[in-house]
Amino acid sequence: MEDMESLKEQILNNIKAANDIKALEDIRISVMGKKGLITEQMKSLGTLPLEQKIETGKKLNVIKSEIEQALSTQKQVLEEKELNEKLKKETIDITLPVRPEVQGRIHPVSKIYEEVVAIFGQMGFEVAEGPDIEDQFHNFNALNMPANHPARQMQDTFYLPNTNDGSFDMDNSYVIRTHTSGIQIRTMESKKPPIRIIAPGRTYRSDYDATHTPMFHQVEGLVIDKNITMAHLKGCLYDFVKAFFELDEIPVRYRPSYFPFTEPSAEMDIGCLKTKTELKIGAGNDWLEILGCGMVHPNVLKAGGIDPEQYQGFAFGVGIDRLAMLKYGIPDLRTFFESDVRWLKNYGFAPLDFSSLTGGLSNNGGQTR
Ligand code: DAH
Repeated sequence: MEDMESLKEQILNNIKAANDIKALEDIRISVMGKKGLITEQMKSLGTLPLEQKIETGKKLNVIKSEIEQALSTQKQVLEEKELNEKLKKETIDITLPVRPEVQGRIHPVSKIYEEVVAIFGQMGFEVAEGPDIEDQFHNFNALNMPANHPARQMQDTFYLPNTNDGSFDMDNSYVIRTHTSGIQIRTMESKKPPIRIIAPGRTYRSDYDATHTPMFHQVEGLVIDKNITMAHLKGCLYDFVKAFFELDEIPVRYRPSYFPFTEPSAEMDIGCLKTKTELKIGAGNDWLEILGCGMVHPNVLKAGGIDPEQYQGFAFGVGIDRLAMLKYGIPDLRTFFESDVRWLKNYGFAPLDFSSLTGGLSNNGGQTR
């Protein structure tokens, strides 16, 4: 029986030392299994004389239940330990952001587009669209620029071949639009006045240097109603530049100019300070040309099917890329279209940083750039 006691102690120690469920199960089998130590002892009882059989049997039963108890306690301990380890391994730190960093960036042209739409949207303008491939009627003729009109030479037009042999008949071929002004005509054709639209879009001219690229962006504006005057034009554009440059006041001036589709025509300048490194908008006494504008020419209204005796209007055209260069200090236009991700990372905007007049045009929550 002494042997039994020391065997029991040893088994109990082994049980306590078992550090995973598998090791514990191996011990259980070696002790309680079909050929286990205790099982064998039980079996051997039969060979003993009756009295001894009873006494040893009792003791064996006590040992057995002690071991069973120890097994079950240790099992619980190990199960809890395993669960804790599992939980520790599977924890998710929900305080971490989903991604390490905002990955995508909004191109400055898209940003300016959003800003311009937000500003004019608040003034009640709708966004209108037109095709990039345009006929000469909408791009030129209806805008008071008939064939051979000298103003056509102001724009280095891309004509599309319209014959099978690749040559073209200049007068009838399509062009890729040289400006967004054709959308004025398309809008007059599809809408009755009052009209208040802006038309942002891509435009194309054969030109290439630091401030000109063959493809660039413009936004056209058109307002037509009864009794529209140059004062409306001035007020509207003044409000626009103030909102756009996010300044309470900004010096502006209108210089007489010439566009075939407006009469009178003007160019709007804003006051700025030109230093070598930085351009300060709204300060100093240098002037910077910002857009072309004027009162819609009666011939243009007629071409759009609107009676110039009853209606007047004003129009304007702004270069979106130029606005981006000015507002965000980007020196070379060509870099806009080189698709260099390093450039976009530097000059681009956070994707969730929407432009709105109330929430801030360019710096919502300090997230910009
Ligand atoms: N279409 C002109 C250009 O591309 C810009 C322009 C000037 C548009 C005056 C207008 C305007 O609507 O009134 O240079």
